Amino acid sequence: MKILIGNDHAGTALKEEIKKHLEDAGIEVVNYGTDSTESVNYPEIGQKVAEELVAGKGDLAILICGTGIGITLSANKVPGIRAAACYDATTAHLIREHNHANILGLGARITGSELAKDIVDSFISAKPLGGRHQERVDMITAIEKKYSR
Ligand code: RB5
Repeated sequence: MKILIGNDHAGTALKEEIKKHLEDAGIEVVNYGTDSTESVNYPEIGQKVAEELVAGKGDLAILICGTGIGITLSANKVPGIRAAACYDATTAHLIREHNHANILGLGARITGSELAKDIVDSFISAKPLGGRHQERVDMITAIEKKYSR
């Protein structure tokens, strides 16, 4: 499995911990930065990682900002992305199983690193359930197509 990861300045420290956690488990991680605590704009990173994911550069992605909200909102503007910020492990596996989410958002100013690692493990180990859930995901895609230029 290959995981793409990106973050703004608020998420740099948590990103380092998550990256190490994944690599220690033998998972390939592609880091899109930032690797600094200098202020950057989360929409640019959310967009970049989202575009790389829909281009097939990885299997799933993780985006980190202060709340996990701004960076996932940005990623969700890229067609084919279903990104959701999670603050607990249960929601993290349900967004994979029911919503077929392909990006997990984390809030570095909200969630401690140990819980964040559990959330990541829950997200990457869950599988889309398909069936009635696929039909609903297809409905989300239809909305996206309706408003795409
Ligand atoms: C940066 O200060 C902060 O606004 C950003 O990390 C994020 O929380 C936005 O949603």
